[in-house]
Amino acid sequence: MTAVARERRGLARPLAHRETQARELMDDPECNLTALERTYTHFRVVNALVSGWRRVYTARMRPLLSPDRTTSVLDIGCGGGDVPRAFARWAARDGLALEITAIDPDPRAAAFTAAQPPVPGLAFERTTSSELVDAGARFDIVTSNHLLHHLEPGERDALLADSQVLARTVAVHNDIARSAVAYGAYHLGTLPWLRRTDDATFIHDDGLLSIRRSYRPGELAAVVPPGWRVERQFPYRLLLVHEGRTGGAHA
Ligand SMILES: C[S@@+](CC[C@H](N)C(=O)[O-])C[C@H]1O[C@@H](n2cnc3c(N)ncnc32)[C@H](O)[C@@H]1O
Repeated sequence: MTAVARERRGLARPLAHRETQARELMDDPECNLTALERTYTHFRVVNALVSGWRRVYTARMRPLLSPDRTTSVLDIGCGGGDVPRAFARWAARDGLALEITAIDPDPRAAAFTAAQPPVPGLAFERTTSSELVDAGARFDIVTSNHLLHHLEPGERDALLADSQVLARTVAVHNDIARSAVAYGAYHLGTLPWLRRTDDATFIHDDGLLSIRRSYRPGELAAVVPPGWRVERQFPYRLLLVHEGRTGGAHA
């Protein structure tokens, strides 16, 4: 492998420092649409394997839900929408009343989610967290997946301020915890998806860059405002949690 190829794949960069300059291929508004849509499809597999939402749902969300009273969830930066779809599936299986709003301002994400089969109790909207704050929207639970590492410091601060306003009970931002082991494991695990042509998938390259852009728990704890708590989740995950203004989901 040439030095350029090593650099392209991030192998030459130490993981001691967080990458803040390189941007993911999917963030390029001019990126190949077919590859982006394949990447949204592949997120479903990757998220199911690595993101640990089932545990978050079981331990933190399900205890707040009821079969009789509807609990509202806002998923911010939903991308292809597989995580809110999983919430809807799990709550339906548990017989619990959940109403989910999943938002993303990216028109390509909006087109992708609009083309998927509808799911009862799940609505996708093309908007931002700050527009919802301005509109006076409120939700019992606010979530995001793989959003924090995407954001510049000002965007991150704005997201957290928005989340505090939007979440009545709890906000949980779930992301990767940067580590060399996670990087190596992801590199090997996604080799079958290695981008061979421009229109394949970004899942390998963008996933590796996501790990390089992600925080270590101490780094994130050092930059979030008071009231936010960083928790580790096995393996190589972190949860940024804010308990909301009310003591229960239906207050
Ligand atoms: C890497 S994607 C994550 C997609 C999805 N959550 C997943 O894990 O597969 C991050 C998404 O967040 C969206 N985003 C960034 N800032 C946002 C904000 N303030 N409100 C809503 N969405 C936002 C971007 O458009 C992008 O699609």
